[in-house]
Amino acid sequence: MKHILHLDSSPRGDRSLSRALTAEFNRTWQQTYPEDKIIYRDLGHNPVPFIDEPWIAAAFSPAEQLTPELKTAIEISNELIDEFLAAKVCVFGIPMYNYTIPANFKAYIDQIVRVGRTFAVTSNGYEGLVKDKKKILVITTRGGSYANHPLDFQEPYLQAIFELIGITDLTFIHAENLAMGQEARQQSLADARKVIQQFISAFAAC
Ligand SMILES: Cc1cc2nc3c(=O)[nH]c(=O)nc-3n(C[C@H](O)[C@H](O)[C@H](O)COP(=O)(O)O)c2cc1C
Repeated sequence: MKHILHLDSSPRGDRSLSRALTAEFNRTWQQTYPEDKIIYRDLGHNPVPFIDEPWIAAAFSPAEQLTPELKTAIEISNELIDEFLAAKVCVFGIPMYNYTIPANFKAYIDQIVRVGRTFAVTSNGYEGLVKDKKKILVITTRGGSYANHPLDFQEPYLQAIFELIGITDLTFIHAENLAMGQEARQQSLADARKVIQQFISAFAAC
């Protein structure tokens, strides 16, 4: 049995296209690999807290020096990191907001990118501490189109931040042109669905 981590970050509900696509991933994965366990977190409707001063003080203190207050400050971070580390495959639904990721997904990243837990600072620079092989599928939804465009601050950022903690196996499915009329939207969603199916089938061959 593998753990799959499914995160949604659209604040929208039934009208959200990223949720529709990750739900399709979820359904198809469960049909294909029924023994796997899918852990679900809804960052769009139940955001994780922003990091704050006690969080930073705790994250940069040795464990044995943590006061009860500082321990509490990083409890949620510990929970999110444990959950993230346990997953073999992650699927993230991420709308493009103002050329980048929504604030709630950034808040999640700030909670899981933590010195001593997911990366280390060494004399040679940063070292990723996530050593287990992990695949991340990022499904983005976008009103416009950004293939190789300098205004795409989603894909390069996500590549960089997950590489920092040691993960390089990221696949991106960008459902684009969703604001460019019914025909463009339907085509884009159909294309994204096809690639989701391919991703899931290809996993069997890994
Ligand atoms: C606050 C806000 C900012 C947005 N910024 C962008 C943008 O920079 N580029 C773009 O292509 N689409 C942008 N969009 C459009 C969304 O990416 C698009 O509607 C997408 O489908 C939202 O995901 P969802 O359907 O899962 O909610 C924006 C939408 C909102 C609400």
